[in-house]
Amino acid sequence: MPWWEQAVVYQIYPRSFQDSDGDGVGDLRGVTERLDHLAWLGVDALWLSPIYPSPLADFGYDVSDYTAVDPQLGSLADFEELVAAADERGLRVLLDLILCHTSIEHPWFREHPDWYIWSPVDGPPNNWVAAFGGPAWSRDEQTGRWYLHSFYPEQPDLDWRNHEVVAAMQDVVRFWLERGVDGFRLDAIDKLIKDDRLRNDPPATATFPLPLRGEAATLEHVYSAHRPEAIAALAAIRSVAGDALLVGEVFQPTSAYPPYLEVLDLVFAFEFLFAPWDAERLRAAIAPAAELRRVAWVMSNHDFDRLATRVGPDNLRAAALLLLTLPGAAFVYQGDEIGLANGPGSDPPYDRAGRDAMRHPMQWDASPSGGFTTGEPWLPPVDPAERNVEAQRENPDSLLHLYRRLIAARGELQDGFGLLDAADGVVAYERGERVVAINTTANPRPASAANEPDIATHPSALAEGRIAPHAGAVTRKSG
Ligand code: NOJ
Ligand code: MG
Repeated sequence: MPWWEQAVVYQIYPRSFQDSDGDGVGDLRGVTERLDHLAWLGVDALWLSPIYPSPLADFGYDVSDYTAVDPQLGSLADFEELVAAADERGLRVLLDLILCHTSIEHPWFREHPDWYIWSPVDGPPNNWVAAFGGPAWSRDEQTGRWYLHSFYPEQPDLDWRNHEVVAAMQDVVRFWLERGVDGFRLDAIDKLIKDDRLRNDPPATATFPLPLRGEAATLEHVYSAHRPEAIAALAAIRSVAGDALLVGEVFQPTSAYPPYLEVLDLVFAFEFLFAPWDAERLRAAIAPAAELRRVAWVMSNHDFDRLATRVGPDNLRAAALLLLTLPGAAFVYQGDEIGLANGPGSDPPYDRAGRDAMRHPMQWDASPSGGFTTGEPWLPPVDPAERNVEAQRENPDSLLHLYRRLIAARGELQDGFGLLDAADGVVAYERGERVVAINTTANPRPASAANEPDIATHPSALAEGRIAPHAGAVTRKSG
């Protein structure tokens, strides 16, 4: 069995995890200093959001050099130390690989303009819109030509039909594999290849099951995204990645995932991420994704409302139990293990798409800086006095301890997954000899359980044929 099949992967947003040098920005040495937290939690791997040099138009997702570390985050030597320290603790390391676009300040944009996608006319050649709003085409002031950007204008799209692009990115993969990386999270790959005829996207007929911003929601992105040719391009990445883990960010409904899984190991389960905390909606998201057998279960990341904000504080324990008992790999975003909610962000904002709120620093202790920095934090901590790792470690009833227990108990959960019939408001499924039941409501609900739970969200989660409000439990099948 590959190491990642049942793995828990912990997502680190490096600028907000731990600052080691007092400049108020998290860095790689800070990550290394805090690896014991991950080891204590029992996760198998960490995914670092981008660490490359970047002008920060999209906070690292605009890369200006793929084979270096942003000086604010550290150096290649720091990265090598991080990998070695992770290795000592049995932790694998995943990097974020941004394939679809570079920063407009990447030297490639001037040295190899033919590696990018340009309009054949003097203006936008079609109606494509950028993910963060506005047209997907902008005029390059230096040449007067129009280039494509699926995201911010500072992120010109690479042309993956150009073999030199493929070869350059293969070199990037080799570079990091040689430095001990165990895999990659592949950014925005449903937008990797676009229609070669640049046809207009038709108006949307049905509602897309994932949230789209502004005008993006008015079109059906059949030409600007999710082209079948993307699979061959990804196969070129696979051919150099060997058996390194490749996790795809495919911002598409579950039904679109199978072709990507021909060349990738996992894809994030986005319909699950966005499912409201409602038993029926959760079941509807889980069933088709579980059938694929190779989704990465995920409930939050640096792009969307934090888990605590989405499901509310009452449901955090049950959400943890759900995420960590579904069959297959699970991704945990830093801070979710202590129940960190969205913060106020920054004024003026750093991120024009409003995502500062999900990127506030990790809270290690109750001090005003949360133990994140000795300097002025780039984004303030949200509520370190109310929740922090140190206090929750001292309290066996804390959310943090529940995460740890759930991670430790994953070995008991076997194959043989199936959703079970359950009362309204309850999600129930089997995992081999175990049954998981989760009450998504604020009222007690009927639940049949003959045995004491192995693990539960609350001391009296199951009693007298009922499951308590907001509770979840894993029990042994009777007999
Ligand atoms: C997905 C990343 O998670 C997000 O942060 C970024 O803005 C876009 N891809 C573009 O790279
Ligand atoms: Mg720093």
